[in-house]
Amino acid sequence: MKLLNLDHVAIAVSDLNAAIEGYADRYHVTPLYREVVAEQGVEEAMIPVGGSYVQLITPLHPETPVGRFLSKRGEGLHHVAYAVSSIEAALEHLSAIGARLIDTTPRVGGRGTRIAFVHPADLTGTLVELVELPE
Ligand code: CO
Repeated sequence: MKLLNLDHVAIAVSDLNAAIEGYADRYHVTPLYREVVAEQGVEEAMIPVGGSYVQLITPLHPETPVGRFLSKRGEGLHHVAYAVSSIEAALEHLSAIGARLIDTTPRVGGRGTRIAFVHPADLTGTLVELVELPE
């Protein structure tokens, strides 16, 4: 398995509308869509930039992973997401080499994707999301 594309850069925000307006004013880009991803406790806005997205995420409740991130660290870069062709193959490889995974099995992401997170302590202090796009 190897990484195919930078799928998105995710930024945790406390006010999704304000963040969307900020991107429109400053950078002249707007979301392709917004989506509530209940499984992750977030609402996200996906802003296309070239072949990737900026993903603005805001928590649905304070007691969610992104809610706790915001109260502890404030707004800012949350994770980077890379596209892979097979999430199972990626997880199998990472398990085999002893990488520190948050998800050992895929879960449901936005856009009908299947995703898995790799712990920031695994490599370079960065939370990594692997994304398998739908057919
Ligand atoms: Co993401």
